[in-house]
Amino acid sequence: MSLEVLDAWCSLDITGASGASDPGSNPGASVFRIFTWKNKRSYAAFPRCALPKVKGRVFNTGKPPVSEERQHSLNRSPYQHGDTLPKYKIAVLPGDGVGKEVIEAAMIVLDEIALDAEYLYGDIGWEFWKKEGNPLPERTIELMKETDAALFGAITSKPKEEAQKELAPELRGKGLEYYSPIVKLRQLFDLYANVRPAKAYPGNPLNYRDNINITVFRENTEGLYSGVEYYPVPEELDELLSSHPRYAKFKGKDKAISLRIISEKGAERIVRAAFDFARKNGLKNVTVVEKPNVLRETSGLFVRVARKVHEDYPEIEMWETNIDAQAMWLVKNPENYDVLVTSNLFGDIISDLASQLVGGLGFAASGNIGDDYAVFEPVHGSAPKYAGQYKVNPIATIRATRMLLDYIGEHEKADRLERAIEMVVKDGKVRTYDMGGDAGTLDVAREIAKKYSEQ
Ligand code: IPM
Ligand code: MN
Repeated sequence: MSLEVLDAWCSLDITGASGASDPGSNPGASVFRIFTWKNKRSYAAFPRCALPKVKGRVFNTGKPPVSEERQHSLNRSPYQHGDTLPKYKIAVLPGDGVGKEVIEAAMIVLDEIALDAEYLYGDIGWEFWKKEGNPLPERTIELMKETDAALFGAITSKPKEEAQKELAPELRGKGLEYYSPIVKLRQLFDLYANVRPAKAYPGNPLNYRDNINITVFRENTEGLYSGVEYYPVPEELDELLSSHPRYAKFKGKDKAISLRIISEKGAERIVRAAFDFARKNGLKNVTVVEKPNVLRETSGLFVRVARKVHEDYPEIEMWETNIDAQAMWLVKNPENYDVLVTSNLFGDIISDLASQLVGGLGFAASGNIGDDYAVFEPVHGSAPKYAGQYKVNPIATIRATRMLLDYIGEHEKADRLERAIEMVVKDGKVRTYDMGGDAGTLDVAREIAKKYSEQ
């Protein structure tokens, strides 16, 4: 493991020869920030440092700091002498519209949990596209690199022309193009496993059936989301592709091309993640959902790799299905499936279908997980028509928070939070409009927080 010294914070021997010295004994001495995002998971294992106290630090307050000045002070050096380093650092990215509201709800729950964490709020979304021409400013990426994981709300995206029109006048005509920040984050941090549970909570009136518990593993960095697209298609490429007999009829025509790239490594690691998950949770089957009868090369490779990976998990059954048929079977026999694993776009589609079986997007949480970092989010978007009303169901985001707790190793807290959600759904007293109630976003969060503390 290589440690990179980035900044001056706490005195540690990082050579490995004598282990970490006691930083508390010499707080004013030479100071290092001892983690980078590559090795930050090891940061929690270091002894607590006597560290500077944060000036205006956000610590479980549940309120995003809004001023740039505050953000700047957080980025610069949040600690002052005499404080204790919290065990975790979590990036909080509320985004747009109801994203802000569901994140506020999640923070109410995190406050109750009293996680030993520092929350760093980051800028992301439409507001920053308009003001800065970048919906995911570099400072946010840097902030994330210093944290263990991120909790993300939702963002607004608009079509190309509208996006240009809403840009600050001085930024127009500069060739700036809007892109999806979440897709960028997945690629940038190599968050290859998009884990999307669809579980029927007992007593949820929205359940299609009551015994559904499916987890979708969606490959998150390649496939049709690789971002390798052409319009117009460059002549050289058109020429090159002409060697393919089936390309002849497209040659020279007005057309667009999006590449579906599936690498062996990409397929291997998502399938392995799915099998590992099944094994850890004592689940019986993993279904590989592709379309190798038509997409002979890309889906063909995916299934071939899956068969090989399956050899390491003989106790788990592996089924192979086609995406179209799987959509039908999920409606017909959803209770048969434990884990689905598939490529990016198929996973995007099938996970929405699965979520609707158990209450829809108000319940759909998502973990974007890589080897070094993870971003947790509700699947839903920023829902502009509900923005400002504190109306939407926060359960998706609170479930995402639960997944985050599991990711950082706080399993007891995660399980307890899951039970609290279960109780609130079953109780039925505090429900948002989608579940037939009239409670607000934060009421549901408070109720879950209450049930958490009562256990
Ligand atoms: C999702 C969303 C995203 C996706 C959008 C917002 C780019 O639909 O997380 O499922 O297509 O992956
Ligand atoms: Mn989607």
